Amino acid sequence: MTDAPDLRPPTGEVRLTIDGEVCHVPFETTVAAAIAEHRAARGLGPGFRSSVTGMSRGPLCGMGTCFECRARVDGRVLVRTCLVPCRDGMEVRTDG
Ligand code: FES
Repeated sequence: MTDAPDLRPPTGEVRLTIDGEVCHVPFETTVAAAIAEHRAARGLGPGFRSSVTGMSRGPLCGMGTCFECRARVDGRVLVRTCLVPCRDGMEVRTDG
């Protein structure tokens, strides 16, 4: 028997809302991946926002350099969602 702390990462699911719909994703899923999964499950295209000229935009780099994955997260605008892990209760908006 040992008193060593359990250093394993938490597992399980996270519950969040994307554009008002409840979603469940595995722990440590990025918000960008959650949005992509959410859209794919509804038969929507990979782009999850529009440019000022109306062009569809979506994640390209997955590492924070292209800024194409921006969305509103818990009221904060222009969040690069590829850099943010999902948390319980998070509210994500891709529609402005
Ligand atoms: S996908 Fe490029 S910054 Fe997020």
